[in-house]
Amino acid sequence: MGFLQVHLLFWVLLPAFLRAWPRQMETPKLLPCWKTWISVSCRGRGLTTFPQGLSYEIKRIDLSHNAISNLTDHDTSALEQLEQLDLSYNHLRSLSGGALGHLAHLRSLILAGNQLHRDHFSNGNAFLSLVSLAALDVSANGLDNQMVASYLHHLPVLEWLDLSGNHLTCLANGIFQGVPRLRELHLRRNSLVEIEEGALSQLRALEVLDLSMNSLHCITGFGLAQLRVLNLSYNALESFDGAGEEAPCRLHVLDLSHNWLNALPLLPRRNRLRYLNLSHNAITTATNESQNVTPQNVSQSFAKLMDLNLSRNRLGSFPVALLHGLASLRALSLARNCLSDFAVELPTNHSSPGPIADRAWQKQTSLSVRMLDLQGNSISHLPPRFFDLLPDLEVMDLGLNRIQLCQARNSSKGECLHAKTEDCTTFHCLPHLRHLSLRGNNLRLVHGCLFHQTPLASLDLSENQGLVLPSYALEGLEASLQELSLRGNRMKTASLNFPCLVSLSILDMSGNDLSAVPPSLLCSPLEKLDIQGNQLESIEEAAAKQLRRSLRALSVAGNPFSCCERKWLQILGTSVLDLGETLCYYRNGDESFTTQISGEQAGQLCPRNAYKVYLAVTAFLVCTVGLLCASVRWFLKRAKTCMPLCLGSLRNKVEPAPSPSKEANSTIL
Ligand SMILES: *[C@@H]1O[C@H](CO)[C@@H](O)[C@H](O)[C@H]1NC(C)=O
Ligand SMILES: *[C@@H]1O[C@H](CO)[C@@H](O)[C@H](O)[C@H]1NC(C)=O
Ligand SMILES: *[C@@H]1O[C@H](CO)[C@@H](O)[C@H](O)[C@H]1NC(C)=O
Ligand SMILES: *[C@@H]1O[C@H](CO)[C@@H](O)[C@H](O)[C@H]1NC(C)=O
Ligand SMILES: *[C@@H]1O[C@H](CO)[C@@H](O)[C@H](O)[C@H]1NC(C)=O
Ligand SMILES: *[C@@H]1O[C@H](CO)[C@@H](O)[C@H](O)[C@H]1NC(C)=O
Ligand SMILES: *[C@@H]1O[C@H](CO)[C@@H](O)[C@H](O)[C@H]1NC(C)=O
Ligand SMILES: *[C@@H]1O[C@H](CO)[C@@H](O)[C@H](O)[C@H]1NC(C)=O
Repeated sequence: MGFLQVHLLFWVLLPAFLRAWPRQMETPKLLPCWKTWISVSCRGRGLTTFPQGLSYEIKRIDLSHNAISNLTDHDTSALEQLEQLDLSYNHLRSLSGGALGHLAHLRSLILAGNQLHRDHFSNGNAFLSLVSLAALDVSANGLDNQMVASYLHHLPVLEWLDLSGNHLTCLANGIFQGVPRLRELHLRRNSLVEIEEGALSQLRALEVLDLSMNSLHCITGFGLAQLRVLNLSYNALESFDGAGEEAPCRLHVLDLSHNWLNALPLLPRRNRLRYLNLSHNAITTATNESQNVTPQNVSQSFAKLMDLNLSRNRLGSFPVALLHGLASLRALSLARNCLSDFAVELPTNHSSPGPIADRAWQKQTSLSVRMLDLQGNSISHLPPRFFDLLPDLEVMDLGLNRIQLCQARNSSKGECLHAKTEDCTTFHCLPHLRHLSLRGNNLRLVHGCLFHQTPLASLDLSENQGLVLPSYALEGLEASLQELSLRGNRMKTASLNFPCLVSLSILDMSGNDLSAVPPSLLCSPLEKLDIQGNQLESIEEAAAKQLRRSLRALSVAGNPFSCCERKWLQILGTSVLDLGETLCYYRNGDESFTTQISGEQAGQLCPRNAYKVYLAVTAFLVCTVGLLCASVRWFLKRAKTCMPLCLGSLRNKVEPAPSPSKEANSTIL
């Protein structure tokens, strides 16, 4: 091949070669945009105008976080393949009439955080050409009711629309006429006080409606049979009445949290609701007889419910009657209500008071709840009947109550006595209970037998200051317990005794007054251990070696560790998570200092090390002296052999030597 041919080939192939590589597109002064074959990203590049010279093949452009203020016909004329345009967080205020007209394939247009409230009439005309647009985000654009209407005249295939963070006050009838295919509508954080009847009923495909953070007072005449998710949280709802609906309702998730409801919502009679969030309301009773609503009415409409969140309301009693009808309920939160009395009155079957029939009756009336959150009430005791009601209970949170634990152990005999006492709480014989929290209950002493035949996997006893845990307290949990928290109990080493917990792998003992790692712990295959904020000066070498076998995460900061006993650190160092925050202390008479335990300084002043320094200095001195002596001796030796010579030569010079030198002798011989 001749030189000319190679040269030609080079120039022919170069453009293709360059196009094939992702390359940097030049924009003057600013950071270049990132460009690939089909997409360009100029996010946050300080652009004030639409970038020019983009290739025809581009499908996605990200121009978000710039300062572009207008979009003209010219800007987009070459972008016929464009499918996705992100112009969010610019200063966009004007779109020329044909600015979007070339974009026949545009599916997604993100214009959040601009100023589309200006020139909305003319801008609205530009939107008329978006006939294939499926997703539109015009959130946070300062749009009011009319302005929104002018952008939504004709978007025939739009499925996803975000109007959050605007100034909508009312959804007028007909506002969504131009977007008949909408499936998801986000109206979060507006100022809606009214939804005109029929405004939403045109949206026959609507499945997800987010109306959270508005100012709606009531919802009646629901009319959205196909809706699956409805979010009405953070409004001012005082009632929710959908009872009039006869059509089957497909609603799956309903979020009514953070409102002013004082009664349970009335749902369409035929519904499939699974998740209902009613937290942060003002509900005082589960049913209000004066509204002519019986517990059966409510239960019936909640029949499919799996998850009911009634936390932060004002319920004064456990709503047994309501719950009986909820056969699918798995998770129930009654956290932070006013529950104190748990005298669970079960209607008895008077026609057959015998024990077998009683069990059958129990089965019939029991609840299907597996997770029960009762934290933050004023509960002092849960009667045994209460647990009979909840045979499937797996997770229970009783944190921040005033639980009185039963004294179920005969301390002189050591056996468990389970009297059916009503004035204290015991957890024995709950075969499905796996996770229990008794955090912050002001517990003083955990008596034995409490967890007899209840194979807990995790137990939270944190924030019970001054708790005493005798070795028999956790009896019965030896094989099952995997996770235990004793955080913030200010327990002394002496008040902490474990049986051999052979499955325990996660233990939190932070915020106590331990001066040593309890030896009874070394039985457990601990993987994660937190002993922050205790009184440990060191960890015994034997204990450290034992822990090393399984430990992977150890937190130790906030202990008065000694800088001079750091052997444990060598053994466990690799698993310590908070080495950087862990300090050690050194005290010797007047001298004291604090330093990072892993720092170079830490060991320097310790007695043994000081001794070493002393040894080193001595050794150095000895060596130096030795060397000095040696060199002096050597010098003297040399001087001895040499001096006579010199003297001799001197003498030679002065007077001839009487005898010849050795050298002279040899030459003679
Ligand atoms: C568009 O914005 C640029 C830069 O701010 C400005 O120079 C230009 O005049 C504007 N064009 C129109 C048609 O408003
Ligand atoms: C409802 O909206 C609130 C606030 O916007 C949000 O925190 C919550 O997760 C939403 N609920 C659902 C079920 O999506
Ligand atoms: C209400 O509960 C649902 C799930 O049950 C959850 O997705 C949603 O985030 C909760 N709402 C708020 C405001 O947290
Ligand atoms: C109940 O809803 C609140 C928010 O409204 C949430 O913080 C809490 O985690 C929910 N509880 C459960 C058990 O889902
Ligand atoms: C029951 O409903 C009526 C009417 O809605 C209301 O006035 C009353 O306060 C409610 N009672 C309770 C206990 O919530
Ligand atoms: C409650 O149920 C009864 C019959 O079970 C029915 O007559 C009554 O209309 C229902 N009330 C409501 C408000 O649905
Ligand atoms: C009460 O017990 C009798 C006898 O065991 C039984 O036939 C009847 O169905 C029970 N009643 C209810 C409401 O379960
Ligand atoms: C406990 O055991 C002792 C000694 O056997 C016995 O005298 C006492 O009655 C028992 N206490 C209870 C409550 O059973």
